[in-house]
Amino acid sequence: MSRTDAFRAPKGVHDVLPPESGQWEEIVAVFAARARRYGYGLAITPIFEHREVFERVGEHTDVVSKEMYELTDKGGRRLALRPEGTASVVRAYVQHRPVPPWKVWYVAPNFRYERAQKGRYRQHWQLGVEALGVDDPDVDVEVIALLAGFYDDLGLRGSRLLLNSMGDAEALPAYVEALRSHFEPHGAELGEEFRARVAANPLRVLDAKVEAWQDVIDSAPQLIEHLSDPAAAHFEAVQEGLRDLGIHFELAPRLVRGFDYYTSTTFEFQTDALEAAQSAVGGGGRYDGLAEQMGGPPTAGIGFGTGLERIVLALDALGSGRAGPRSEVFVVDGLGGEGGTTVGSLVETLRRDGFAVDRAYGRRSVKAQWKAADRSGAPVAVMLGRDEVARDAVAVKDLGTGEQVEVPRHGLVAWLVARKDRREP
Ligand code: HAM
Repeated sequence: MSRTDAFRAPKGVHDVLPPESGQWEEIVAVFAARARRYGYGLAITPIFEHREVFERVGEHTDVVSKEMYELTDKGGRRLALRPEGTASVVRAYVQHRPVPPWKVWYVAPNFRYERAQKGRYRQHWQLGVEALGVDDPDVDVEVIALLAGFYDDLGLRGSRLLLNSMGDAEALPAYVEALRSHFEPHGAELGEEFRARVAANPLRVLDAKVEAWQDVIDSAPQLIEHLSDPAAAHFEAVQEGLRDLGIHFELAPRLVRGFDYYTSTTFEFQTDALEAAQSAVGGGGRYDGLAEQMGGPPTAGIGFGTGLERIVLALDALGSGRAGPRSEVFVVDGLGGEGGTTVGSLVETLRRDGFAVDRAYGRRSVKAQWKAADRSGAPVAVMLGRDEVARDAVAVKDLGTGEQVEVPRHGLVAWLVARKDRREP
């Protein structure tokens, strides 16, 4: 690798920097506020775990068997960078045994060695929630409503909610066997990769994007026809709950999602604002057997993850991208650097009073500072010149209209608050 390449971010990962990062701040704040309203507390889990947390027994998905970033540390421990959030949160639940129901949210980077392209990265960020310890269909509805409402908050219009049920622990093996019998006769014609998936887990054929397999996938038996009575009743209750809340959904019998831990309700939000292969903006489902697979007590669980990069791409495509927080006031030093700490203390006072304040540094000309004020995006500039100091006042300029007024220094905060109130009723 050349020296220049070594000092660039590796393929498939990226920096998130101002001003774009302002939009990230906004999105995370909107999610945090919504999660709090639904009773979810923040969970922060480590970026790496023992590999077993993700591998467990029988996790045959691409994410875990092919795409995981594996490492061995200097103590010989077999670790993996987190490819997704659910297994880490369930590991934390099993380890700490909090009193259920346990409802948490997270914002975290995940790592998958994927073919990097727009909307698909080797490090991506997810906002998500997990609710453990309750199998009530009301929780399924709550989790889906939280995500649907979050997209509404952001103005992410036009996403479709796809809904399916994977059945319960009794029904699923029978369905998997029915699928296997359906696929096996096509093994010779469809090749090695097909045969391997059928042998390991035929569900992983259903979500394959291989053109040549589509006919046998289309004619395969449907999960929904194999639901046990309790699983069918649970699924019906979830649909009823969503209808009650006016949340529109489509039944999607082929939706199996990319992890083997799913049982019962699964769902995905897809949007046309993203390219087809990356159209899933968020998804999740139940995983009622996962805690037990990690040595914990039988524990119901449900959650979702939604990709931050994909949200930003979709909002941009829809023209609903939000500007992040900007400075509210820009302070211009009209004293030519002779005012000692006068300007510095004005800036600090305003910041202590709760305003987001920026300024120019060094002895820059007043003209250059006005230019910087315009570039800053702040709606108001406050200028302190010799005349103003003499009158114990400041000059305040509306950077939108160019209008300028003089305000007594002791009345500045009240003036700024009144202006803000006028703009944000
Ligand atoms: P997932 O469907 O693999 O589910 O990922 C959730 C979301 O993360 C996707 O819908 C997508 O928006 C985003 N995403 C996934 N991979 C990438 C990538 N390579 N680049 C950019 N964005 C990506 C999970 O991870 C489950 N843990 C969700 C869950 C939570 N299920 C239950 N609880």
